[in-house]
Amino acid sequence: MALVGVFDSGVGGLSILDEALRQLPQDDYIYLADSANAPYGEKSSDWIASRSLSLCKFLASKGCDAIVVACNTATAEAIKQIRATLSIPIIGVEPGIKPAAMQSQNHIVGVLATEATLKSDKFNALLATLPRDCQFIEQSGAGLVLLIESGKADSEESLELLAKHLEPIQDAGADTLVLGCTHYPFLRKAIRKLLGESITLIDTSDAVVKQLKRQLDTLELKSNTVTYGTVTFVSSKDESSLLSLANNLMSVDLTLHPTHARILSDVS
Ligand code: DGL
Repeated sequence: MALVGVFDSGVGGLSILDEALRQLPQDDYIYLADSANAPYGEKSSDWIASRSLSLCKFLASKGCDAIVVACNTATAEAIKQIRATLSIPIIGVEPGIKPAAMQSQNHIVGVLATEATLKSDKFNALLATLPRDCQFIEQSGAGLVLLIESGKADSEESLELLAKHLEPIQDAGADTLVLGCTHYPFLRKAIRKLLGESITLIDTSDAVVKQLKRQLDTLELKSNTVTYGTVTFVSSKDESSLLSLANNLMSVDLTLHPTHARILSDVS
């Protein structure tokens, strides 16, 4: 079985870990949250690239067979460098604008992502490959990550901020919304409250985990007899609050997995 590293600026990547534990429960995971530095989305490209690389090197040094960069912002700014440096499979996430363009009936798609993702060359290169008859309404979700990091995903405050951010998307009449940051699936309830049930929400976690599985299959690792592998939560800020946020935000039953919580201490 594999040891998989999952990394995000904070708790957003838990939306990917959740799906990974559903599809690949026997593998062992290290979930690394750089919560002391979240949000990444408002930081410079160089900072994001070098910090993401250091954290992925840390995960590789712990023996990970593969790493999921479970952060759209870090993927946009750093994945090329991470892949060039490490020799294990590195799986990234990017806003699902392609499936959104294919699924939208009225060809109006909202994209909610961080400022850094929307400005990145990687995102804009992907956008340039898509049909011109689809209109994309890009909106930065400034402030939302911090609210989710502080356990306020379901609060009135989040609902109000989200309403402001979603207004241009709603006004444009989008029938599809891309959740372009791994934190945003945790706002699904609030988004539905504001935009209703008919809008299609695009979240790529299922596709990301399928890609992880394909990559792990190529490694031909030894199989394991346990039903549920271990999950180690590592935080650069506070490991016990990471664990309690994980319990609140994730839908898988974490009590099935032997879990550990550690503080990030040895990364440069
Ligand atoms: N979860 C992240 C993403 O997918 C990063 C958000 C942030 O730290 O700004 O982009």
